[in-house]
Amino acid sequence: MLKTNEVYNMDCAQGIKLLDDKSIDLVVMDPPYLLNLNRVKKTSTFNNYANELMGLKDGFDLQILDMLLPKMKKINIYIYCSKRQVRDLLDYFISLGCNYEILTWHKQNPSPLINNNYLPDTEYVVFAREKGVKLYGNYFTKHKYFISGVNQVDKKKYGHPTIKNLNFIENHIINSSKEGDVVLDCFCGSGTTLVGAINTKRQFIGFEINKKYYEIAKRRVEEALSKEENIETKNTK
Ligand SMILES: C[S@@+](CC[C@H](N)C(=O)[O-])C[C@H]1O[C@@H](n2cnc3c(N)ncnc32)[C@H](O)[C@@H]1O
Repeated sequence: MLKTNEVYNMDCAQGIKLLDDKSIDLVVMDPPYLLNLNRVKKTSTFNNYANELMGLKDGFDLQILDMLLPKMKKINIYIYCSKRQVRDLLDYFISLGCNYEILTWHKQNPSPLINNNYLPDTEYVVFAREKGVKLYGNYFTKHKYFISGVNQVDKKKYGHPTIKNLNFIENHIINSSKEGDVVLDCFCGSGTTLVGAINTKRQFIGFEINKKYYEIAKRRVEEALSKEENIETKNTK
């Protein structure tokens, strides 16, 4: 088994193989989206953004899910995805008899890439759980929608173009796991899920293939761990 509370700079297709069977309580992952950047009108500001997204746009292979199934104690998984991926993911989990929800993150300040399209202001999260897997949380953490601005400060600070909202991810973790449980993010980017796990007193494992983002995630995790330690020291004084 890989050590928990670590970020690994590796392809998750290799990393998942190193996990013990039935060792993961919850997966929260945000794999590359299937973006069709060709349909969007190109402007000079857009070009910079598109270049950054190039490595992140090609989607991911459903085989990753086949590999994950034996590693989870029970199927319990949140997957951020584009609208083009929702159908495949639902088909996949419905065929396994799972319960599911589609959660959404609505951004108040989306990029103005309108052209002949609606604004790109909604992100989808497919949540699937095996029958019998409990949902915890409360009235405030269990909304299916989340509304916020894109956090430009964190986006700049942590240098990841598709950073997700930490509070929304913390809600997924609170709703679908208990303190001490192991949360896995196979495509951890700047480490938002891992920080969410630390803030909610869960263990975590993260995989990130890109060295630059791996370094960012590692630094963010170290910051979050030392913040948690300081809080605990204060509480025990
Ligand atoms: C959409 S981003 C995740 C962003 C993250 N949720 C955050 O808040 O920062 C997807 C990440 O998956 C990484 N990635 C792509 N293919 C991968 C693979 N096979 N194994 C591990 N990481 C991968 C990319 O480098 C990218 O950082």
